[in-house]
Amino acid sequence: MKILFVSSEVFPLMKTGGLADVSGSLPAALSALGHDVRILMPAYPEAISAAETPNALSLRQAGSQLTLLSTRLPGTTVPLWLLDAPASFGRFGNPYLAPNGAPWPDNAERFALLARVAVDLTQDRLGLGWKPDVVHCNDWQTGLIPPLLSDEPNRPAVVFTVHNLAYQGLFPYETFQRLALPPRLWKMEALEFYGQLSFIKGGLVFADRINTVSPSYAEEIQTPEFGCGLDGLLRSRKSCLSGILNGIDDVAWNPATDPYLPAPYGPDTLERKKVNRTALRQRYGLPDDPEVAVLGMVGRMVEQKGVDLLIDILDDLLQLPVQLVVLGSGDKEFERCFERAAAACPERIAVTIGYDEPLAHLIEAGADIFLMPSRFEPCGLNQLYSQRYGTVPIVRKVGGLADTVEDATPERLAAGQASGIVFEPAKPAFLLEAVYRALALYREPEVWRAVCKCGMAKDFSWRKSASRYVGLYREALAGMNAGCSIADPRCAA
Ligand code: ADP
Ligand code: GLC
Repeated sequence: MKILFVSSEVFPLMKTGGLADVSGSLPAALSALGHDVRILMPAYPEAISAAETPNALSLRQAGSQLTLLSTRLPGTTVPLWLLDAPASFGRFGNPYLAPNGAPWPDNAERFALLARVAVDLTQDRLGLGWKPDVVHCNDWQTGLIPPLLSDEPNRPAVVFTVHNLAYQGLFPYETFQRLALPPRLWKMEALEFYGQLSFIKGGLVFADRINTVSPSYAEEIQTPEFGCGLDGLLRSRKSCLSGILNGIDDVAWNPATDPYLPAPYGPDTLERKKVNRTALRQRYGLPDDPEVAVLGMVGRMVEQKGVDLLIDILDDLLQLPVQLVVLGSGDKEFERCFERAAAACPERIAVTIGYDEPLAHLIEAGADIFLMPSRFEPCGLNQLYSQRYGTVPIVRKVGGLADTVEDATPERLAAGQASGIVFEPAKPAFLLEAVYRALALYREPEVWRAVCKCGMAKDFSWRKSASRYVGLYREALAGMNAGCSIADPRCAA
């Protein structure tokens, strides 16, 4: 099958979160299954620098000149095109936000351009001699591709993956006019969302198949609590909606070969994990006390991640034999809270505000316990990395966290099937209680070891999930032919 995979971030060329990890590993897994998959993403300056020998292809598009840089996804043979439009993408830093933290004012134009180029690629209007059978779109930045394709008589099948429904790409009506989108798209059954232009609705309404990144999140987003105002639409497309768990890049995230670790280790050399803990402590000047457990957290400091729950229990944590290491950035108020706590208690709390890939690996390896108390979590990758690294995750029972961590109940402990601690209500007291439970197990080294090893033994590779995506592409192709998309009058219920 020929697959065009479109994403606004692809590791290692550009990354703000898990979307990049998925976009950098799923295409390689599909390629390993024998499919001809090619990636399209914007040519941010960092992406151009990280690309291996990019080769400029000058092309004509709708009367204007356009450059695609042709390269490979680093470390693979997967072809990758960088859309080189300096006026739109030639900016350093966060791909969505200006340095002041506000969205770039021309985000709609930037990602509409990405969509238009993707559509032209699928029609081989750029003369590359290649036409995909399927276009795989990811999140709102690619949301205009499905509606624009719906105008094409010979379009490929379209799959739209929701990595996070909370980010929707909403813009005023004037933007819709400025983008000169077909007027027929301005209605509730298309891109209009309470008087605004919604990019994500383009994917949700017009794709042949929609999926999210865990089975639980696929169910949750059909409810008002998690549906972000789109639950009704999603319920109406239930028959085309599924959940496929993310896999991980198990080469980049392998504790036995991780180049960022002072002491790589595996399930049979688990005692070496402590060397990494010592290194992590030394980095921050935390005392190297074997009785004290290190709690780690890495992630975007936003409400989604339950950061406020952790902030609320910081004083209680200081009463316990624990140290806390936090890496992340996001909401300035959350950043300041952590910085204040670390300044007040430097021998117990360490914080790095920013983005640091090597440090993220060291925390995954050096911490004893990983905290992920998310309010919602479409899939989550860090809890997968921590299980692979023998670092016991504490997670909320929500979305992909619920699907990937087995709570250490007495029954599961007895059966050797416990891989973490799961708590339910999004309240500080319940997170604190989960920490108590984890520490009780930590005090029993044999039990603790078994929980660590249970996580390490799990298969989080893309093997199974990549095959599921292939199945989804086949369904999309069949659905397109059967007219399953709700934008298709044959399917109007
Ligand atoms: P999300 O995509 O919602 O941010 P995920 O758990 O799916 O959450 O993926 C987050 C990814 O981003 C992980 O690979 C994680 O290690 C990485 N990450 C997040 N924040 C940072 C940071 N400050 N420094 C380094 N890596 C980070
Ligand atoms: C999103 C979600 C996260 C998911 C990632 C990759 O950013 O918040 O849960 O793991 O996308 O799919």
